[in-house]
Amino acid sequence: MTPLPLRTWLDGKPPPGEGVAGTTAVVIDVLRASTTVATALAHGAPYVVARANLDDAFAARGELERRGEEPILGGERGGFKVPGFDLGNSPLEYAPARVGGKPLILCTSNGTAALEQCRDASRLYAASFVNAGATAATVAKAARPVAICCAGKEGAPSLEDVCCAGLMATLLLDNYTYETDDATALALLCWKNNKRDVTRLLKHCSHGRYLQALGFERDLEFCGQVDAFAVAAAQNDAGKLIAVTD
Ligand code: MLT
Repeated sequence: MTPLPLRTWLDGKPPPGEGVAGTTAVVIDVLRASTTVATALAHGAPYVVARANLDDAFAARGELERRGEEPILGGERGGFKVPGFDLGNSPLEYAPARVGGKPLILCTSNGTAALEQCRDASRLYAASFVNAGATAATVAKAARPVAICCAGKEGAPSLEDVCCAGLMATLLLDNYTYETDDATALALLCWKNNKRDVTRLLKHCSHGRYLQALGFERDLEFCGQVDAFAVAAAQNDAGKLIAVTD
């Protein structure tokens, strides 16, 4: 097998000269956008539309309502629900009774911006610890270069995203021979050093500490459940994230 490139973007930005064209892009925002996407899909939302900016998110809601759909508008700014939104960005809010059968428009500070940035990839997935295995199994079906995009926080790397990127790379390398870069090697080390207790890492990383200070400690336990859902969140031709099961 000819090795394919497997690249990791630690801080949400592609390295100079690189982009998503021709790749399978996997966007990781463990705390909490990618976890919320997987939870909503696993709990029956038919699709998720990711929007980086608030005006676009409100406009997307209006458009779906005009078409007779009953969307949920969710997300956060500074960790809190946005005024006028239906839900915040805690995955615990996305219970089957609340999201089942309803499309979700999600707008968050970093995660949905990373998803928008990668939307022109050949294939695009939103991944986190809760659906890492299902995502890797789907990604591994296509022999294509992979770009793992860690959403990070305001242009800086986030430990939890890098750790999850290491899990994703580990699972992909189990199935195919990739040619990896140094950023992927760092992610692999981060996973190796933390795999025994992911929740501990989530409690100690800086965004985890921030969320705990806001009262979201239960989110950290939830986001640390490796492979809680057998659902990959894949972008379809209409630019919506839908559930894909193996
Ligand atoms: C983000 O997109 O920055 C987040 O998911 C933030 C959060 O939910 O705390």
